[in-house]
Amino acid sequence: MGIFATISLLVLLVVPLTNVDSRPVLPLSNVESFLKLPSDGRADRDDGAVGTRWAVLIAGSSGFGNYRHQADICHAYQIMKKGGLKDENIIVFMYDDIAHNEENPRPGVIINHPQGGDVYNGVPKDYVGEDVTVGNFLAVLLGDKSALTGGSGKVVDSGPNDHIFIFYSDHGGPGVLGMPTYPYLYADDLVATLKKKHAMGTYKSMVFYLEACESGSIFEGLLPENINVYGTTASNAVESSWGTYCPGEYPSPPPEYWTCLGDLYSVAWMEDSDIHNLRTESVKQQYELVKTRTSGHNTYNLGSHVMQYGNLRLSSDHLFLYMGSNPANENCTFIDDNLLPSFSKAVNQRDADLVYYWNKFQRSPEGSSKKLDAQKQLLDMMNHRLHVDNSVELIAKLLFGSEKGREVLKTVRPAGKPLVDDWGCLKSLVRSFEASCGSLSQYGMKHMRSLANFCNAGIKKETMAEVSAQACLRVPANPWSSLHKGFSA
Ligand SMILES: *[C@@H]1O[C@H](CO)[C@@H](O)[C@H](O)[C@H]1NC(C)=O
Repeated sequence: MGIFATISLLVLLVVPLTNVDSRPVLPLSNVESFLKLPSDGRADRDDGAVGTRWAVLIAGSSGFGNYRHQADICHAYQIMKKGGLKDENIIVFMYDDIAHNEENPRPGVIINHPQGGDVYNGVPKDYVGEDVTVGNFLAVLLGDKSALTGGSGKVVDSGPNDHIFIFYSDHGGPGVLGMPTYPYLYADDLVATLKKKHAMGTYKSMVFYLEACESGSIFEGLLPENINVYGTTASNAVESSWGTYCPGEYPSPPPEYWTCLGDLYSVAWMEDSDIHNLRTESVKQQYELVKTRTSGHNTYNLGSHVMQYGNLRLSSDHLFLYMGSNPANENCTFIDDNLLPSFSKAVNQRDADLVYYWNKFQRSPEGSSKKLDAQKQLLDMMNHRLHVDNSVELIAKLLFGSEKGREVLKTVRPAGKPLVDDWGCLKSLVRSFEASCGSLSQYGMKHMRSLANFCNAGIKKETMAEVSAQACLRVPANPWSSLHKGFSA
């Protein structure tokens, strides 16, 4: 209704101005400021009068070794809440097995910083446990209640003037994001959903923050510029992202913690949002700060390349439009060098699980069941890693011969090109692999690029099935390889 009225007003104004031939025409700048849609002008957009802010926050992992992802998500919730978003507009996905985990040194509490307070308190449990699924996540984005299974039923029931913020923190691999359930989320399905949401006309603009290994590959060559989505990712398409506040680092978690407390990129944007007036800080300014901090202050030794994708013009919006702003920060206006701490060390995400079990093993009393359990987990994990790495390599050799095989494994497409042309092929090769070789699981996601390259080289699922069966005589009997949760594609 509002829209219709504004459009008619626009037509009335535009027609006389552009059709005149004798009368002086207003300078363009005046015309523009005069003809602004109510929701268009920066000033209008920033006063918050127009549209609703929505946030979808998702941790895609489970297990105490992945403490950091759920800690990130809980922290993000507290920022949105303090920013003034209403619970009815914040939708949280988390497995919720951390706060009350028997390994948690502070029962009922989750922290995201070594000296940080509890971030778990008050977090809505919209989609927890086995309800954290790809199907529910995409249904929530589309506002499609009929497609939900379980959960609170909350969806992004947004209108054309609304602003949506999405934050995803998890493991990933080229073209894929993890979930605590199977299947995983593939880039093509995510981007197709964003396009569909845009076609429905149910948002004005969207900001998507993504933390995962190879997270750039989720948007690279895939996220269009014309659907009003701006995304930043923790890493480019070919590198891992990093956990932080890990045991043995400085600053390290309190000694009773054996896990990383957060992820580098996630903590960087959140600790920035925690302390600033978000009415005056732009998305772009935050991107620059986060990029510097996540890169290990441009060394990239222990850090990654934060990337931006989609409609880059949206980055001039104030963060307020997406996250609101904590009134307590109203005088903390943005300064370029805002003295956020740098990190002296970080652990790449794929090894962060090992860190947890290693510390558990090292620090548990000799002969205790905890020590034995940690030892078994470490061995299982190492076996799984070796098995997956060796199987993929062997399959490549069987498919292409040893020299060409090595080349296909390592091929990286140029920037701007998606990982694979036929995503259906990638998913079918993943299934063929897993049917004979067992689950890729969290670690094995790193091999998605190799499987994608097989597709790009024309390998079909029948061939992949045959060769996988030759390479893997049986599915190894460890929990990481187990297919009891189904296929990851
Ligand atoms: C910000 O500064 C103004 C003016 O000095 C003051 O009145 C207000 O209380 C301050 N706000 C906060 C949250 O400190």
